[in-house]
Amino acid sequence: MGEGVLTPAFARLDGALACEGVPLETIAAAVDTPAYVYSAGAIRDQYAALDQCLAPVRHRIHYSVKANANLAILRLLRFLGAGVDIVSGGELHRALAAGFRGPDIVFSGVGKTGDELREALEAGVLLINAESTGELELLDRVAAGMGVVAPVALRLNPEVSVDTPHHYTRTGERGSKFGIPMHEAGDAAKLVSGLTHLKLIGLDMHIGSQIASVEPYQMGLLRLLELLEHLRRSGARHIRWLDLGGGLSVSYGGERAMDLENFAAAVLPSVAASGLSLIVEPGRFLVGNAGVLLSRVLYRKRSGGRDYAIVDAGMNDLLRPSHYNAFHQVEAVRPRGGLAVIDVVGPVCESGDFFAIEREVDDPQAGDLVVIRSAGAYGYVMSSNYNARPRAAEVLVDGDRFAVVTLRESYGDLTRLEPADPTWRTV
Ligand code: LLP
Repeated sequence: MGEGVLTPAFARLDGALACEGVPLETIAAAVDTPAYVYSAGAIRDQYAALDQCLAPVRHRIHYSVKANANLAILRLLRFLGAGVDIVSGGELHRALAAGFRGPDIVFSGVGKTGDELREALEAGVLLINAESTGELELLDRVAAGMGVVAPVALRLNPEVSVDTPHHYTRTGERGSKFGIPMHEAGDAAKLVSGLTHLKLIGLDMHIGSQIASVEPYQMGLLRLLELLEHLRRSGARHIRWLDLGGGLSVSYGGERAMDLENFAAAVLPSVAASGLSLIVEPGRFLVGNAGVLLSRVLYRKRSGGRDYAIVDAGMNDLLRPSHYNAFHQVEAVRPRGGLAVIDVVGPVCESGDFFAIEREVDDPQAGDLVVIRSAGAYGYVMSSNYNARPRAAEVLVDGDRFAVVTLRESYGDLTRLEPADPTWRTV
């Protein structure tokens, strides 16, 4: 369909798209549509490439659970040797359910609650990446109540400009809600050293998501290392982790994926010189191109000179096009040969429910299967029940095997938590 290069994880087998050795038609017949389909092999390949690129320094890859929190995917990454980066008590629960242990976990997030901090300390996490002085004070109280010392990294806002496809995914610019402003870093470190239940063992940044150039990482790292020097001179002795966050880009079609060799060349020499161990928190890089959203065309329709394919997946299943105006390739599983300029839209009652607008794609007919590509990251995790639509199934493929790793929701699931007849409480 002339839209970019097929990754080997999703290639044509006898004229129709397959995930590794499993035809997507087989999956659709078995689990129905819409369904997310992930390739285990693609995740392994991305992990291996990143791990190899970081090999010159002591490092740990802490997968960012928010990108795709499915338990089977978490387990797969655990078997590969990954740790995790979490941002909520719910993600901690998922990580533990997938078999990760405390030392495999770093806890990020701008709004951790007291309960979440306690749960993280109970689990014995490796690092809590603190984002404000208020959080440090709360963490100290929680740790004191438990009689433990909390392992802390300061998440700094290095105040670098980042070029990402949408401004929602920039987090390291001046004035952002994320991280401790750079000019307050010294005071925050002083605060930690005065609080007896905190131990400062790391410095951290996360500057944004879908970043293709190395300069902002280099600049942010430089700022963190200047701070490290300053802290060491004022007596900080326990800092051993340098967490550079996630954000490495993948290609959704036209744009560049992060070049790992460039990344390594830009950051590893200074990491090595610092004597610290490196942590990275990739999400999208590991899973983004390992998944597609498999959907079926319900109708073709013309309106006001526009040509529509209405598919059975909607913005409630994959929010990215609507929310970020994000580009995802769309293609037929078994192309009929012709191309057409069409809008590929979902069934949700919003004009913003679209996957492609006036795009030249395979000309699918009602009943045909299509895929929306690069849906492995920030797909299912951002899905909702809007329009009372049960959430899709998730399927993991490994070689010539596939498994349903999330059941499709039922109508019963939609109302499971709602008493039809409320129990009133009087004040
Ligand atoms: N670490 C922290 C602290 C983060 O907040 C994030 C992502 C990551 C790591 C992983 O970033 P990644 O390697 O996946 O770029 N929903 C948006 C992306 C939001 C990213 C939020 N934070 C999207 O669909 O593009």
